[in-house]
Amino acid sequence: MKTIQVDLGEKSYPIHIGEEIMIHFPDMLGRVSSRSVSLLVSDELVFSLYGPTVLDILRGAGYRVEAAVIKGGESCKNLTTLDWLYEQMIICGLDRSSTVFALGGGVVGDLAGFAAASYMRGVGYIQLPTSLLAQVDSSVGGKTGVNLPRGKNLVGAFYQPGLVLADVSLLHTLAEKEYLTGLAEVIKYGVIWDTAFFEYLETNLASIKTRDTECLIHIVERCCAIKAEIVSQDEKETGIRALLNLGHTFGHAFEALTGYEQFTHGEAVAIGMVCAARLAKNIGMLTAAEAIRITELINNYGLPVDYGNLSADAIVERMRSDKKNTAGQISLVLPAAIGQSQVCTGISDEQIKAVLK
Ligand code: GLY
Repeated sequence: MKTIQVDLGEKSYPIHIGEEIMIHFPDMLGRVSSRSVSLLVSDELVFSLYGPTVLDILRGAGYRVEAAVIKGGESCKNLTTLDWLYEQMIICGLDRSSTVFALGGGVVGDLAGFAAASYMRGVGYIQLPTSLLAQVDSSVGGKTGVNLPRGKNLVGAFYQPGLVLADVSLLHTLAEKEYLTGLAEVIKYGVIWDTAFFEYLETNLASIKTRDTECLIHIVERCCAIKAEIVSQDEKETGIRALLNLGHTFGHAFEALTGYEQFTHGEAVAIGMVCAARLAKNIGMLTAAEAIRITELINNYGLPVDYGNLSADAIVERMRSDKKNTAGQISLVLPAAIGQSQVCTGISDEQIKAVLK
């Protein structure tokens, strides 16, 4: 088992990564109370696959744990489900010493994390990510929250988990589309931060596509190490944490304009990274050869590189309303080289539209 530490003073926590490590979960729960009731939050699909096993492991070790199972999917990451979750927390008797276990992908992690952040002004929570996207990105760093009808993640809190356990053996049951959506975020880490990791993704494409265990452990470990380094320096995204948004401003526009139905989040981010690379090349930040390498890697993994027939005006309009912008300026993360990126402002609409044709 590999362990990576997120260094945030009193809020520091470990990320444990390995194969079939869930069985050792109780040994990691040092500060979790076995007297207070805990709540395992999951979605229907994940719970049907892993819920009973995790409950058995916890109960077998003497923990009092109940389960709350949500339907699943981005459409249930809302205030109605959150309200239902608070109700379950009360019915099950969670108190201020209780812990919430989030067993699932990004939706479960964000929702359960925000419920934990706000219930009785905050109870403990632990992330048990079951999707690649959650293992490499959303379970680490403490972003929690729900969507509002007017936009994604508009209500939330930075609230760090007590620990993250990423068991890569759980990734074998992931649908191919879900695995690919995670791979887009994996590629993102190579582009923004780590040339050698980008090369690893190029060299080991076949084994990664077939979910070779050693490769899975390496990619989850490397992505978590990069994220831990970034979050440890900038927990609240006032600086370098924004680099993790490479491809996301374009991507959010593609997702929103297609009603969140045509592209998964990772697919939209993949196309967004292609646009960002093209834009960086056009303004002389990135070489043409590197822009091609980024596009080719995304394409070779079977991720989309083209958004179809959306209008360039509508995309730019949508990018303007991204909540990460300040004072009406579109702020974009652009690659300066493979393994290096920066936040850029002052990019004109025309420069953006030039990569959308
Ligand atoms: N997913 C980007 C972040 O956690 O900052």
